[in-house]
Amino acid sequence: MVSKILLLGECSREHAIAEAIARSGHKIRLYALMKHRNPGIERCCKARDGEIIIGDFLDPETVLKVVRDKGIDLVVIGPEEPLFRGVVNAVEDVEGVPCIGPRREAAQVEQSKAFMRRLMWKYNIPGRLRFWTFRDVREALEFIRETGESVAIKPARQFGGKGVKVIADFQAYLRDVRSRVKEAHVTKLFAEVSKYTDIEDKILIEEKVEGIEYTLQCFTDGVNVLPLPLVQDYKHAYEYGIGPETGGMGSIMGPGITLPFITSEEYEKSVQIVKMLVEAIRKELGVEYRGIISGQMMLTPVWGPTVIECYARFGDPEGVNVLSVLETDIVDIFEAILSRSLPKIKLEFKNIAVVVKAAAPLGYPLDRKLAQGHIMEIDEEKIVEKGCKVYYGSVDQREEGLITVGSRAVEIAGFGETIPEAAHKVNEILTSSLIRLRDWKLIYRLDIGSRISIEKMIENAEIIRRAYRARKLERYVIKEWIPGKGLITYMYGE
Ligand SMILES: Nc1ncnc2c1ncn2[C@@H]1O[C@H](COP(=O)(O)OP(=O)(O)O)[C@@H](O)[C@H]1O
Ligand SMILES: [Mg+2]
Repeated sequence: MVSKILLLGECSREHAIAEAIARSGHKIRLYALMKHRNPGIERCCKARDGEIIIGDFLDPETVLKVVRDKGIDLVVIGPEEPLFRGVVNAVEDVEGVPCIGPRREAAQVEQSKAFMRRLMWKYNIPGRLRFWTFRDVREALEFIRETGESVAIKPARQFGGKGVKVIADFQAYLRDVRSRVKEAHVTKLFAEVSKYTDIEDKILIEEKVEGIEYTLQCFTDGVNVLPLPLVQDYKHAYEYGIGPETGGMGSIMGPGITLPFITSEEYEKSVQIVKMLVEAIRKELGVEYRGIISGQMMLTPVWGPTVIECYARFGDPEGVNVLSVLETDIVDIFEAILSRSLPKIKLEFKNIAVVVKAAAPLGYPLDRKLAQGHIMEIDEEKIVEKGCKVYYGSVDQREEGLITVGSRAVEIAGFGETIPEAAHKVNEILTSSLIRLRDWKLIYRLDIGSRISIEKMIENAEIIRRAYRARKLERYVIKEWIPGKGLITYMYGE
């Protein structure tokens, strides 16, 4: 029986995890390790006779010390970076304490997009894309000059949600220009990615697809997969998908397990893909993946449900959507993960739509300095009275007040019978004086979850559906880039 939980992380997703733990019927104490004082997480810890500890949760030694000092018997990891640094390996191997979060080897499914793509091809998992990896900048440049394909250029290693450039290449007259853009991006990425020595591949270039994106988050005990309702997140900083990519400015969900523009058949297909990934990880690495695995999916004309990337954790903000309405005791779920008995858990959620929107200080995400150090004034009581919930993120509770740290400061969750209704409630909060910075401006997106955007996606999904159903009958042409040999072309069928 779990009695003392340590949570790692400090943002809104972790606040939502802490809140779900605080709701548990189990007799547990909750501790959290974080770099700045998140008042939401602190409140949850205090409610469960625990406390927060300020420290570097990315550092295995620091985590081990807290585990020993507090007599922790379960560690729950919120963000991805501690997984990549081997925190789970350290806690399990040195202290013998189990974790919710995969070991470093299994976390490669997120850390290395190249590993994930290879796994999908080796194990014939549907929803895979053609890809090419490069360890050497000259080869990548040569590939670009020779192929002229529409591609997505990515750092092969997870890079904090940065560095992906998607470039269509169909207008012949623009080919040279586009080729130069690609070459410049590849050169820049190589320079940036080279500082990471933990994986050998530096750049991943993959086939460009188009479609509607959504996230499927799942619990897994390494063998069984328990899927959560679908969530769609919005990455761009400004309204109507304009501006730089962020960690996520908002997300929509429900009611029910799927989204209005994804059919239950597509949902099932997506679940199947994640199940196959978990099985492939077990076969490939001999490691049982324990924790949360999420598919960042796209409904594309090529496959229908297609994997863009994987997370070894909840998304942020997507995790807030599901956790804020989770009715099943999360500690029961954790215990079932540890005893590999997930099938006995019946997942239950309030059957309502949930819209989450982030508010970040102006300057985020490009100029963190501008976004730092502002005093936030927030009337949480009134916000809750209006039926919404506050999840604290990149803020530091100090004597002088609640200070912004530079990223998404809070996420507001709203609920309703439909997504537009829930979105409207959140918008009312964001545009009111219940949340503001004393001497600075907040950015947020009022467009997320609007009726018109949902209708548009339903329409677009229908077009994509027709395309992938028709394409199923065809065979695809594959172009394979073999280093030293160049481009080989062959055919494959589904
Ligand atoms: N192969 C692709 N085709 C088209 N768009 C893509 C492709 N890969 C990524 N994208 C777009 O770029 C975004 C970021 O890419 P992703 O692989 O998720 O990297 P990260 O989130 O680590 O930056 C995706 O959400 C998607 O919109
Ligand atoms: Mg992504």
